[in-house]
Amino acid sequence: MRKVLTYGTFDLFHIGHLNLLRRAKELGDYLVVAVSSDTFNAIKGKKCAIPDYERMAIVEAIKYVDEVIPENSWDQKISDVKEHDIDIFVMGNDWTGKFDFLNDYCEVIYLPRTDGISTTQIKKELKLK
Ligand code: CTP
Repeated sequence: MRKVLTYGTFDLFHIGHLNLLRRAKELGDYLVVAVSSDTFNAIKGKKCAIPDYERMAIVEAIKYVDEVIPENSWDQKISDVKEHDIDIFVMGNDWTGKFDFLNDYCEVIYLPRTDGISTTQIKKELKLK
């Protein structure tokens, strides 16, 4: 069984998120998604519209997702890959190169982002209304 791991905030869940999760699952048989916790977002200076337990519940309900874990720090990736026996680490290509150090532990793949949508963009548009 090929296990795939990806990370994200998944605030205001949108079609770019869905496409990413679908393509991640297509790379293997079992998809683990690490969703950033509110505490971790605070460390990053990022404020979500939706609390972490709701973002996790939404991601968990997506049919491509087999397991959701919390992302609490920048440096948990190597231990997550080992603990969950991960074969492929996937991120959108806005992160290209940033996680190449994981190549020592698993395959690293950056997938193209869906054009024209992001949480940041949705938040901007909502403020205009
Ligand atoms: N993603 C994607 N296509 C988009 C938006 C996001 O493929 N249009 C991917 C990201 O590359 C990442 C995952 O979805 O692998 C989770 O991204 P996240 O940062 O939660 O979403 P964004 O919409 O990029 O949020 P923000 O605008 O706050 O950065």
